[in-house]
Amino acid sequence: MKNKLNELRAEFLEELSRATNNDHLRDLELKFLSRKGQLSELMGGLKDLSAELKKESGELANTVKKELQDKFEEMKKSLNSYVSKTENIDVTLPGNKISQGHLNPITLVQNELEDIFSSLGFMILDGPELESDYFNFTALNVPPSHPARDMQDTFYVDQKNKDGQYDLLMRTQTSPVQIRAMLKYGAPLKALVPGRCFRNEATDARHDHTFYQVEGLLIGKDISFANLKSFLELVGQKLFGPNTKLRMRPKFFPFVEPGNNGEYTCFLCQGKGCRVCKYTGWLEIVGAGLIHPDVLRAGGIDPEVYSGLAFGFGLTRLAMLKYNINDVRLFNSGDIKFLEQF
Ligand code: DAH
Repeated sequence: MKNKLNELRAEFLEELSRATNNDHLRDLELKFLSRKGQLSELMGGLKDLSAELKKESGELANTVKKELQDKFEEMKKSLNSYVSKTENIDVTLPGNKISQGHLNPITLVQNELEDIFSSLGFMILDGPELESDYFNFTALNVPPSHPARDMQDTFYVDQKNKDGQYDLLMRTQTSPVQIRAMLKYGAPLKALVPGRCFRNEATDARHDHTFYQVEGLLIGKDISFANLKSFLELVGQKLFGPNTKLRMRPKFFPFVEPGNNGEYTCFLCQGKGCRVCKYTGWLEIVGAGLIHPDVLRAGGIDPEVYSGLAFGFGLTRLAMLKYNINDVRLFNSGDIKFLEQF
């Protein structure tokens, strides 16, 4: 009996050492450890032994049984931790959803404008957000102490420039890039400048300290007010559809002469009158005019040879109209619930 137990033990341990998966383990369990397995069978013979042998063999049988069960459990654990790391991957399960980012509605409108204007042969330009007083105001015909400065208060930087003057500010408009573009590229010139602007304003649903504009300019020979009108008509039709009409109303902007506000038939009600256009049928969209000769001169262009038109859109305002957004602060809020809607 003792010999048989030792043989069985050796055989079991040998087979266990070769087991590489759960099926092997299940077979081993059945063969050796189950109720009808070899160990039970052997132990069943104990009852036929003499009292003395029964005691000795019984003790050995119990030790062997415990050892084999322990070794078996050990193997099962190590095999399963290995298997779960390597083989137990169900490749048919659906994967984790990768969430997709969204473009800010301002970017969407900016992309649309860039498409329209590059199809008309305009360069798309950039300019600095931290601008000098000269480019933001003086070169645009708004010298120090000009009353037009009052309408565009901004954030001034507490640091002197290389000439020892405090003249750095966050730009209030994209218009300074008109001058930068003229100085860099000369005439003739067609450029569109989308960008971020800043004003020192109390914020509410319609005003924010940070917003976006788009500036445009077209400089060539004999550019007239008639060109400005037909050009703005074309832009309106591209933006809001072929039936869009333009109406121009005089307005003062220091860097153009004459200056005007361009209004388009409301794209929501087609001019019938609704909440968005305040029941007028018109939306005030674009400031524009013929570039003032002094501004051309500041850009190094001779106003006796060249003339040009300039215009400015509120990109943020356009996005609010287009997507029916009623609070300007949402754009910079970083609110994912807002952004996910676009
Ligand atoms: N810069 C003007 C503003 O912020 C908008 C503007 C008006 C731009 C007329 C222009 C223009 O180029 O011709 O209010």
